[in-house]
Amino acid sequence: SLINGTETFAAARKGHYAVGAFNTNNLEWTRAILGAAQEKNVPVLIQTSMGAAKYMGGYELCLHLVQDTMKSMNITVPVIMHLDHGNYEAAKECIEVGYNSVMFDGHDLPFDENLEKTKEIVKLAHAKGISVEAEVGSIGGEEDGIIGEGELASVEEAKTLAATGVDYLACGIGNIHGLYPDNWKGLNFDRLQEIAAEVETPLVLHGGSGIPKEQIQKAISLGIAKVNVNTECQVAFAKATRKYIEEGHDQNDEKGFDPRKLLAPGAKAIKDTVESRIEWFGTPSL
Ligand code: G3H
Ligand code: ZN
Repeated sequence: SLINGTETFAAARKGHYAVGAFNTNNLEWTRAILGAAQEKNVPVLIQTSMGAAKYMGGYELCLHLVQDTMKSMNITVPVIMHLDHGNYEAAKECIEVGYNSVMFDGHDLPFDENLEKTKEIVKLAHAKGISVEAEVGSIGGEEDGIIGEGELASVEEAKTLAATGVDYLACGIGNIHGLYPDNWKGLNFDRLQEIAAEVETPLVLHGGSGIPKEQIQKAISLGIAKVNVNTECQVAFAKATRKYIEEGHDQNDEKGFDPRKLLAPGAKAIKDTVESRIEWFGTPSL
């Protein structure tokens, strides 16, 4: 059933494990993520970025896609439908549409404005039983061809943002969206530890793709309860699809043009990736 994320992630932080948060892009992605969670018998969070939701046709459609897919697949594990990196307007829209959880990402605003807007979203969301994620510091990533390191979260700001009552808190600790550069310094465990010592809120690790297993597991042991994974599923899908085509299934061959066949290896690769990350995160089966 669809639930909010408050208890699930609080239990994860307490229990020193994480619950996976996977981005969806379409029907195949949705089925793969739900199928993996059901197979492992664990709760899962499915999230749509603003861009992916626009691509798919809007938040309402995304919510119905997840709901109806759960029904048709007889999904019995708890699922949290979440807005990833929403701006103020998107967070409000998803609260109205009935998402279970929203991220208000105000990292590019002056901190006081991030704080004020986070408070407003918390008020609106909690009135409807919807969970909220906020962001402090920033997640690195590519901009104009340069991979930025992101801004390390300040402990004081993390405390202040946590005090708004957000249900989970994303913090910049050297993590980066997308692929990691070869000279990446790794996660900043000292800062994570300092934040975790002051903040009881479950912490979120963005940019989960490409971080070595040992670092992810250490971060979880220190207070990370939600790990976001997107790029890794995209790469797995693309690799498997390319391999299938290169094996000779081109447009002259029914196996190469029937979408049900053409997309199957990629969908299986997403499901395998999600299952493997669920194992890494130590999510206990229900
Ligand atoms: O919000 C989404 C995640 O932070 C995804 O990051 O694409 O590097 O796995 P990733
Ligand atoms: Zn992210």
